[in-house]
Order: sequence, then structure tokens, then C-alpha cells
Amino acid sequence: MSQERHLEALTHPIFKTLSKCADALDCEAYVIGGFVRDYLLNRGTPKDIDVVVLGSGIALAEKLSEALANQPEVTVFKNYGTAMIKYQDLVLEFVGARKESYTRDSRNPVVENGSLEDDQNRRDFTINALALGLNKENFGILVDPFEGVKALEEKRIITPLSPGVTFSDDPLRMLRAIRFASQLNFIIAPEALEAITAHKDRISIISNERIVDEINKMMASDTPTLGFELMHKTGLLPLILPELTALQGIEEIEGQKHKDNFWHTLEVVDNISKNTENIWLRWAALLHDIGKAPTKRFDKKVGWTFHGHEFVGSKMVYKLFKRLHMPLNEKMKYVQKLVLMSSRPIVLAEDYVTDAAVRRLVFDAGEHVEDLMTLCEADITTKNPYKKKKYKNNFKIVRQKIEEVEARDHVRNFQPPVSGEEIMNTFGLKPSKEIGMIKEAIKEAILEGDIPNDYQAAYTFMLAKGKSLGLTKTA
Ligand code: CTP
Repeated sequence: MSQERHLEALTHPIFKTLSKCADALDCEAYVIGGFVRDYLLNRGTPKDIDVVVLGSGIALAEKLSEALANQPEVTVFKNYGTAMIKYQDLVLEFVGARKESYTRDSRNPVVENGSLEDDQNRRDFTINALALGLNKENFGILVDPFEGVKALEEKRIITPLSPGVTFSDDPLRMLRAIRFASQLNFIIAPEALEAITAHKDRISIISNERIVDEINKMMASDTPTLGFELMHKTGLLPLILPELTALQGIEEIEGQKHKDNFWHTLEVVDNISKNTENIWLRWAALLHDIGKAPTKRFDKKVGWTFHGHEFVGSKMVYKLFKRLHMPLNEKMKYVQKLVLMSSRPIVLAEDYVTDAAVRRLVFDAGEHVEDLMTLCEADITTKNPYKKKKYKNNFKIVRQKIEEVEARDHVRNFQPPVSGEEIMNTFGLKPSKEIGMIKEAIKEAILEGDIPNDYQAAYTFMLAKGKSLGLTKTA
């Protein structure tokens, strides 16, 4: 057991106050878990502080609150025997040391008191079981009974108990193992990886919200696909995101093959992650091809086709978000839109790039046009250097044209230059389909480049269009 003193981790004045409170209550207390792990990994000073108490966590929280300026509120979770204090930018959580598993939302919270070692035993990984003493005589001393520091140095995810026991205590830990591996670029110990594979079906008892939380953390890591590959390898992926595994495989008919869209997708996610931290854009990359499984056809003349996969995929996004209890809000709509439009710039980049096509792209993508371009550039995974260069160059041209066209025509947040009301007044019309036709014709003329996007040109165009519809100007 390491006895090194880590005073630097506890420089925040709150720890001295906490120390005094614990001594006053005559109970041992330790900072444990993610705070210690992240401090030892030099991942900055964590703001979430988990405190384990040999005694009552609630009593220590209350004592601390009394000792702090403004006596912050203590939120008590009676069922679990835990308490929380928000103080400045810190969130402190207090829990009594337990013999049984530590899971905040386990269905059968067990509150049987235990020793520090009992508590450390029932935590998920050795790197999360590191504890720093808070009492006067052991202030800052690291308690590391399972070689958690060694595991940190060796970048290994190991369970304190036999992995089957640790994962049965809380099956979410299978995903946590994968998430930490992805986030920290660690290796999961082979026995643990085997246990995940063996126990994967138990993930079904975990709420979608907790699952999505972990997936989002994977998604936010530098190389998200480390996580997706591990989920794939252990068999968790088809239980959580079957739409992705359905993309796996290469079929060959009459000598014609299509690419493996699963591995392609992972490559796209890693590519995009180098260019954006927006996890919703990363989600769009993950889901951009999901419509390809249900739309795959073989045509003797043209080979493999995935007609309409973008539209089908965008509908699937909604179902997937709904199933996983993800927010059905503007984030979902954003992902849907990017999936729906995901082939548009590619079609442009394959061909001669006209201003009109770019204007339509900007009009349809609106404020997300930049993100759409980022997605499409990430989508270039061809191993053919000639094609790669060609697509990249064409995307450069598309980007340039987007800027030029936008500077001139302002179609990104298009507002009709002539209002429906003005059309009605000009031709003395009541609400009718002609108004819509004229408005649409003006928009089309602007997007095609027949007229500039300004009031005068649109007004003149409106008069001509009205005339062609047999209308006469009355005002
Ligand atoms: N823990 C556990 N089993 C879980 C969840 C948490 O044993 N299913 C323990 C671990 O010791 C963990 C601590 O509770 O370190 C705090 O959990 P949490 O705040 O969820 O995670 P952190 O480890 O702090 O990491 P992060 O903030 O990155 O989620």
C-alpha cells in the first residue's frame, strides 16, 4: 500500500476545513474516486469531489456546511445515506463506506457500513478506488490497496474484485470500462474484457439515460472509435446501436463489392473528431450512413445502390434518439438535417461546381453549412490517392464558392425579399395559391442566379411573373 503524501491535490482550503470537521466528528474520511484519479493523471483539478466516510456521510456534510461561509445547502438522499453540497464551483458528495456495491442508482441501495477497504473493493476499477486521507494524521496520504497507481502508469483498466462480480454489481460498469479506455486511451485487462463479453446481455437492466451518458463521454473523447470498437468487440454495440452493426460486412455479387459501411463510419467519426469537438456533429458522422442497411440493393446495370439512404437515415435518427431516450429537441433535428444532407456536397465535389448548386446547398443547409462541409470532408475515406486529392480539391472549391455566393447573395438565412403581403397588395389578391407561386418563383430565380437577391430585382421579377399568370397590377 502506497503511503506517499499528496498534499498538492488538497491545496484547496475546503480540504483543511473538511479535515477539521472529520476530526471533530471523530470519523475517518477520504477523498476517493475520479478526483484522485484525475489529479494523478494531471487532468487538471477536478471539481467533483467524492468523499467516503467511515461513519455517516450525511453528518460530515452537515458539519462541513456549518463550517463554511454562507452555510451552503446540504442535499440529503436519505434512501442512499448520501449527501451533496455545492460550494463555489465544487460539487462535494458524501457517502458512508459500504460493504456492498457503490452504485448511486442501484435498485437495492445497500447501506451496510464497511471499512475503507470494503468500500474500495466494491468500486468499479482499481484506478477509481484510490483514496486520499483527510484526517489530520493521514492528510494527503494515498491509500492504494489494489495497485491503482501502477494501473494508472500502465494505462490499464482492472477491476478490484473478479470482473464478473464487479460487473454484476452494476452492469453499467461494462460501458464505463470501455468509456475510460476510450477517454484515457487505456487498455482493458483481458479478464475484464472477457467478462464484459460474457455479461453483455445484462446491460438490458440499465436505463437508457445512463447508457447514453457513457456513449456521449466516449463521443467527446479524442478518438471516439476506440470506444465503439470495444463495444463492437464485446458484443455490446448491437444491443445498444443495432443500426450501426447492421452496416457491417461486404457483399459481392457478380464480382461487384460495396465497402464495409461500418468500418467506414468509424473512420469518418475519427476523422471528424480531429476537426470538431461538437459531439452532435460527431453523432451525425456516426449516423450519416445508417440508412444504407435498409436501402441496399443490387442492380445488374449499376451495381450496388443505396437510393434514398439519406432520407431513410434521417427518419431512423428520430427513432434511435427516441428509443435511447435522447433529447428530441433541436440537437436531434440538427443530426437529422446533417444526415439528410450528407451526400449533397459530395455530389457537388464529384462534378463541376456551379454557383447555382452551391447557392442551393447554402440555402438548404442554412446556418449548418459549415458543419455539413466538415462532415463531408471527414467522409472522404477513399484509399485511392488520386480520388482523395480530387475530392479534397473540389471541396476546397465548394468552400470558396460558398463564401463568394454568400457574400453576394446572402441565402444562408434567406428572407424573401418581397413579402406575401406586398404581392397581395400589388395584384389586389386575397390569400391564394398565386401568392405562394410567385414567392416560390422569386426564390427559385435567386437560387438559380437569374436575379440577384435584392428588393428591386425581386420586385421587377414579381411584376413579370404576375403578368404571366394573368394578374394585373392594381397598386
Ligand atoms: N463508481 C463505481 N461504479 C459506478 C459508478 C461509480 O464504483 N458504476 C465509483 C468509482 O469509484 C468512481 C466514483 O464512484 O470513481 C465516482 O463516480 P462518478 O462520479 O460517476 O465517476 P468518476 O469516476 O468521477 O468519473 P467521471 O467524472 O469521468 O464520470
